[in-house]
Amino acid sequence: MPKLSVIGAGTMGTGIAQVAATAGWDVVINDTNNEILEKSSASLVKVMNRLVEKEKIDQETADKILGRIDFTDDQQYFENSDLVIEAIVENIEIKRKVFSAVEKIVREDTIIASNTSSLSLASIGASLENPSRFVGIHFFNPAPLMPLVEIIPAVQTAEETTRQAKEWVDSWKKLTVLAKDTPGFIVNRVARPFYGESLRMYEEGIADFATIDWAMKELGGFRMGPFELMDFIGNDINYTVTETVFQSFFYDPRYRPSFTQKRMSEAGFLGRKSGRGYYDYAEDATKPEPIKDEKLGKEILDRVLVMLINEAADALFLNIASREDIDTAMTKGVNYPKGLLKWADEKGIDWCVERLDALYEEYHEDRYRCSPLLRRMKTKKQSFYS
Ligand code: NAI
Repeated sequence: MPKLSVIGAGTMGTGIAQVAATAGWDVVINDTNNEILEKSSASLVKVMNRLVEKEKIDQETADKILGRIDFTDDQQYFENSDLVIEAIVENIEIKRKVFSAVEKIVREDTIIASNTSSLSLASIGASLENPSRFVGIHFFNPAPLMPLVEIIPAVQTAEETTRQAKEWVDSWKKLTVLAKDTPGFIVNRVARPFYGESLRMYEEGIADFATIDWAMKELGGFRMGPFELMDFIGNDINYTVTETVFQSFFYDPRYRPSFTQKRMSEAGFLGRKSGRGYYDYAEDATKPEPIKDEKLGKEILDRVLVMLINEAADALFLNIASREDIDTAMTKGVNYPKGLLKWADEKGIDWCVERLDALYEEYHEDRYRCSPLLRRMKTKKQSFYS
């Protein structure tokens, strides 16, 4: 079996190690912090015990999986790895240092990957002497449970590197999609309006958090409302992703972060993890009741949905990914009830363009500009899937 080395034994590194070891790979996890290595090892034992208790796997399989994973603070153990995946702090300088050191240890044909969510792969790849063997492999949290993995070749990546990385990750029973090395790749780019437009409607006083969450879940079929989801992810993390995407797009107003979320984050109202976010998570707290007004609910859903569709259409327009991969990314990476391009067909391309133009007409903000692809499709009477 091939060998994987994981750099960083935090949340993502530990999850990725579990995925590969479950698929039969030998895995080495490395971290500079020995306490974190111990925590990672203990958490994997706990996960395996739970899987055995739930009868998802038997004890022998659990022992075998755990037996395939070694923990070390010494990167010399990376020797003979077929693949290295880095999952350390999101800091370009630290990542670059780690990559140039690791490249000297591994074989010449070892594929070297980063799990970065927000940094440019071209900039990380530039730290390698041979960047053609470097690629982005972006898992979602929690890695063992989320089926989606985005594979992102940098401009320097050889085709063979991308092909091999995809084949390996597919063999780990993950669903891979290919994305261009642009901010947010597919999911973190296309999902921005789910949060941004909901926050905007709240700021305008159109509805409160509970009503917006109710509309998106009850009428839209989303598993979690945007405010529940932001509280779950953490307002600090969600805000930082939005701000990074906004800056990386040269301040395109479409991705402008919200003051509401910035203030929540600054106040320490981070969500579930701090006990308070948009909602209060104290045991005796009462959950606010939504205003279950169908007309208002539909207005909320339609506005968020058309902005999501616009983002997905524009990602296709700019060749960030294929039609199928954009839809798969959103249904398997963030559990959307339907692919957004499929949804656009159902709502009708005319409806999408008219709704976006109405928003633009009302606000005269660049944020509401309709993707040229949708406009072109409307003129030609086309849909995404026929
Ligand atoms: P984390 O903070 O849980 O873990 C990072 C680990 O890297 C820490 O244990 C730290 O001790 C270790 N580390 C730092 N410098 C190191 C070095 N030079 N050598 C070896 N180990 C080192 O972080 P998390 O959340 O697991 O994220 C890791 C990476 O994955 C980041 O690039 C992040 O953007 C990306 N990512 C995170 C997701 C998430 O939801 N947490 C989702 C997808 C990607």
